[in-house]
Amino acid sequence: MSLEPERQTLNPPILAPSLLAGDHGALAESAAAVSRLGLKWLHLDMMDGHFVPNLSFGPETLAALRRHGSTLFFDTHLMLSEPHLFVDAFAKAGASRITIHIEPAFDHAAAFRAIRAHGCRAGIALNPGTPAAAIEPFLGEVDLVLVMTVQPGFGGQSFREDMLPKIAQVDRWRSERGLDLRIEVDGGIEHDTAALCRSRGADTFVAGTSFFAAKDKAAFAAGFAAL
Ligand code: DX5
Ligand code: ZN
Repeated sequence: MSLEPERQTLNPPILAPSLLAGDHGALAESAAAVSRLGLKWLHLDMMDGHFVPNLSFGPETLAALRRHGSTLFFDTHLMLSEPHLFVDAFAKAGASRITIHIEPAFDHAAAFRAIRAHGCRAGIALNPGTPAAAIEPFLGEVDLVLVMTVQPGFGGQSFREDMLPKIAQVDRWRSERGLDLRIEVDGGIEHDTAALCRSRGADTFVAGTSFFAAKDKAAFAAGFAAL
């Protein structure tokens, strides 16, 4: 019998289309298109022009999507220098999960507590230049690790294959410690790159450009369900 820790069965794959690549003049319709496919998650990217050199949405965007009837799981990715100042606003606006980055300096543990106190799920994200070791102290406080597979800030960038070992490292920690954790990848994700990430343990796939450019979105989603 092997003394090696057994690798956990992979979590079922989840496709989380990123609204950043949707129609910014008709976001509710872009979100509804995701729902009509039977998908459950919508990835929402928040940018502040400081942590990343771009601007995108804010809490009011989430609130408006809820008012328009969206019941999707709002997977909210805060690319903000001071995300802890906005946890309350995003939770009240309808976030289901709030993912914050490890790179800015603030009290991450307190932020995770605040996120959970609102009844939201908590996630931690890391940039391509940040080693996996940086998030290790927080693995017990989140149930999702977001491994950025591009430098955050813009959609449509090329997938970075050099992030695969980082995904594998997080997967090893998950197995060794029996953590109930999802591993999400974000940036340059389409079927081929998702398969590479899946082989290293990723189970949650953010797709912006590839999803909204797909002519046959049902076939596109089916490809992810089959990963
Ligand atoms: C990038 C964002 C991503 C973005 C991905 O900073 O975090 O969620 O929407 O876009 P694609 O899928 O086009 O790489
Ligand atoms: Zn994102």
